[in-house]
Amino acid sequence: MAKDKTLYTCSACGGSTPRWLGRCPQCGEWNTLIESVPSAAGAGKHRFSAMAGLAPSSTVAVLADIEAADVARTPTGQEELDRVLGGGIVAGAVVLIGGDPGIGKSTLLLQALDGLQRGGYSTLYVTGEESGAQVALRSQRLGLAQSQVQVLAETQLETILATVEKLQPAVLVMDSIQTVYTEQLTSAPGSVAQVRECAAHLTRMAKARGVTVVLVGHVTKEGALAGPRVLEHMVDTVLYFEGDTHSSYRLVRAIKNRFGAVNEIGVFAMTEKGLRGVSNPSAIFLSQHAEPVPGSCVLVTLEGTRPLLVEVQALVDTGGPSPRRLSVGLERDRLAMLLAVLHRHAGVACMDQDVFVNAVGGVRISEPAADLAVLLAIQSSLRGRALPRGFIAFGEVGLAGEVRPAPRGQERLREAAKLGFSVALVPKANMPKKPIEGLTLWPIERIDEAIARVRELD
Ligand code: TYD
Ligand code: MG
Repeated sequence: MAKDKTLYTCSACGGSTPRWLGRCPQCGEWNTLIESVPSAAGAGKHRFSAMAGLAPSSTVAVLADIEAADVARTPTGQEELDRVLGGGIVAGAVVLIGGDPGIGKSTLLLQALDGLQRGGYSTLYVTGEESGAQVALRSQRLGLAQSQVQVLAETQLETILATVEKLQPAVLVMDSIQTVYTEQLTSAPGSVAQVRECAAHLTRMAKARGVTVVLVGHVTKEGALAGPRVLEHMVDTVLYFEGDTHSSYRLVRAIKNRFGAVNEIGVFAMTEKGLRGVSNPSAIFLSQHAEPVPGSCVLVTLEGTRPLLVEVQALVDTGGPSPRRLSVGLERDRLAMLLAVLHRHAGVACMDQDVFVNAVGGVRISEPAADLAVLLAIQSSLRGRALPRGFIAFGEVGLAGEVRPAPRGQERLREAAKLGFSVALVPKANMPKKPIEGLTLWPIERIDEAIARVRELD
């Protein structure tokens, strides 16, 4: 049988050509032609007709008449993982999990699969990166004696799908999606076309058979999932591993979840026996200073449902003609904006200074409630004066210099008090009605007020 010809489709206009060109002849865009599989002519059925598994009923119904059955979730035995998944895995759902190399993706999934297998679910771990022996070695290291998880070292999609057909597992892990390839395309594994096509096949299989599929994805240097962006739209849940590979703590964050809340995080500690859940993580992102040091400010951030105390560090130092602004764990654009606010509304200038900001422990903070702590850390470093002992601050800083309240302020304050913090600089609107024991509160409304307030101390 003659091999099906491949087709190059433009990702901008959808036009196609039989061979690769640098520029799409239809719309004139550059570098948009991607290899794809032509639909089998005369086959009668569209190649995506199996997608019908997504929506078995093709009749129109009124929303009120459709039974909204809540989905059944199966806990994996890894409590912190279940928390980010929204209670456990769901049959037919596709989960994509990304993260830096060596951060613990394979370890966590092997632990979760073993838990499910011991709970009586049939599991299949497909590895395209390691041999079966390497996986066995890891499972020994994890102390998973006599693990019954089925392992397949394979990268060809057709073989994987045939194996799933034969074994009928309840959960399939594909480690990683960048190593699989389908015979239908000639491009190399890991290319945009291969990743998209293989993920589409696996998603279809998951929906049609009710298998939970977990795809492991590589990340690019910038920290985004490698491969087509469409991957994130295709799947039901996207999880990201965060954390510093040099520290032992790891965070798993839900970026998208059709079956649960987003921004929920699971916290793990990497031990020599694999990842262990940390059920009370609020104090792990604080570095231990014997005495308060300049350039450090602790904030209470709310990640998902749990408050976390995170130390923000800033270093302001004389810069060259074009001073640098660098941030780790915080947005750099936001830092530039905050420096402008600090200058215009509080009269603190860092124009000729390099400014470095870091969130301790490799945690990434995306909420604007970190603004106030960032600015206080910067001004503390600039002046070489430490903030008081047991000090916390949070609040969003606006372009007009106002400090806006953070959501669920009381919860944050209570957590700080519980951990022994004694002074809190907070937006006025976050002031609790009743005083919080052990915590002195300094309400402020504007950034200049906040700066003046901490300067009064020295
Ligand atoms: P791994 O799960 O292979 O990472 P990924 O699949 O995300 O690339 O994690 C490997 C790292 O974890 C490696 O650097 C060693 C460390 N590790 C432990 O510290 N303890 C353990 O029990 C295991 C299995 C790994
Ligand atoms: Mg791995």
